Amino acid sequence: MKLNWKKWLLTGGGTGLIVLLALQATNPARTNPAIAPGADLMATNPPAPEVTALLHAACYDCHSYETTWPWYAHIAPASWLVVSDVNEGREHLNFSAWPHADPARAAKKLDRINEVLDYREMPPAKYTLIHVNARLTDAQRQTLLDWSDAAAKKLRPAETNQ
Ligand code: HEC
Repeated sequence: MKLNWKKWLLTGGGTGLIVLLALQATNPARTNPAIAPGADLMATNPPAPEVTALLHAACYDCHSYETTWPWYAHIAPASWLVVSDVNEGREHLNFSAWPHADPARAAKKLDRINEVLDYREMPPAKYTLIHVNARLTDAQRQTLLDWSDAAAKKLRPAETNQ
């Protein structure tokens, strides 16, 4: 018996398309909740404009309520990965809900920012692969390191600054 490859391919392709279309019903919600007035990191004593610009370009997509959702965030299964990354990123650090009222907590967050920048863990490589504007030069990384270091020191009581 001769296999009819054309028929097999068509059936396979058709099934694949149907599965892909069905998956679209599973697209998770892409949220950008409202930011409480004054809650953003930039709301009180904003960092220098250069720092602000770098954080917006390299971090805000995953660590704020100002996510620019890429087109593939609308298409399962890529959408699952992007949305879970952003949700997880926001859980760990959210510049749109900065602990302005809790200097000790804010200082800790700045320490963690300093750490992940120093270890080159952030922004994640899988993100900068596509988001070219989020790539940090060594000088830009140093700018963010200097800022997080100085800002954390400023928030701590003087005696712990030695
Ligand atoms: C593609 C999304 C994405 C981008 C862009 C991104 N992050 Fe993250 N970040 C995450 C995720 C997800 C986690 C939590 C899981 C982990 O630690 O890997 C995280 C964790 C962190 C943490 C750890 C928080 C803790 O709980 O200690 C810090 C600090 C951080 N990121 C800072 C940054 C900074 C600073 C930038 C920009 C230079 C940045 N991130 C860019 C996704 C992102």
